[in-house]
Amino acid sequence: MSAKPAVREPLLDVRAVGAGYGGMPVLQDIALTIYPAEIVALVGSNGAGKTTLLRTLSRVLPATGGIVMNGHDLLPMTSDQVFAAGLVQVPEGRQLFDRMSVQDNLLMGAYRRTDKAAVARDLDRMYAMFPRLSERRQQLAGSMSGGEQQMCAMARGLMAAPVLLMIDEMSLGLAPVIVEQLMGVLSTIRDEGVTVLLVEQDVNLALSTADRGYVMETGRIVHSGPAKQLIDDPEVRRAYLGL
Ligand SMILES: Nc1ncnc2c1ncn2[C@@H]1O[C@H](COP(=O)(O)OP(=O)(O)O)[C@@H](O)[C@H]1O
Ligand SMILES: [Mg+2]
Repeated sequence: MSAKPAVREPLLDVRAVGAGYGGMPVLQDIALTIYPAEIVALVGSNGAGKTTLLRTLSRVLPATGGIVMNGHDLLPMTSDQVFAAGLVQVPEGRQLFDRMSVQDNLLMGAYRRTDKAAVARDLDRMYAMFPRLSERRQQLAGSMSGGEQQMCAMARGLMAAPVLLMIDEMSLGLAPVIVEQLMGVLSTIRDEGVTVLLVEQDVNLALSTADRGYVMETGRIVHSGPAKQLIDDPEVRRAYLGL
């Protein structure tokens, strides 16, 4: 093999994306790049357009522009097809199957996978990663605490063997001690090679964990860069960190 300089290929490349609801534009000229095995934070106030961007990437909403993941053009794909390609969303509010057990919720995450042995191994991995879920395998998901439900939603997403896991408002309404555990899990899975797009209203929290970040305001990206740099940015501090 010839010696080539190492070029870092993006995992996800989003260019000039626009989207909205029923002809009403919300997202405008969105550009975003995510590299393999990094945690990228997408932050902004309530109503900035973060969830709309996730739903656009998941191909739930019609869009214009370019969305390429791993060399595949996602724009013409259906939401099932992008899920099969490894783009998995953990939705805001968890959206668990409340009347199903924890274990059945996790197995639902793997419904597309045919390798039973690998699925069984991943189930064990999830129970090792989330001991609380292991103790509650047969409990109905809807009867658990908010933190346990978020663990279940994240584990269900991971059971799909994602290439890119997008988590919408992971910390919302949860106790700091639980949020800290979940952030630890994100670092672990990132180190195992899963790429994470972390969407948060809690700007400080997300930027403290992420490698890089994007700040959204009224449907546009207004700041981006290494997370540490964004936390130190005077404008970001004034607008979001109350400093
Ligand atoms: N289903 C919808 N129909 C019409 N407008 C919507 C819908 N969902 C969100 N919006 C609007 O899109 C904008 C962005 O919302 P959203 O993406 O949910 O923001 P965020 O996730 O950052 O809080 C808001 O102005 C919101 O009112
Ligand atoms: Mg949202």
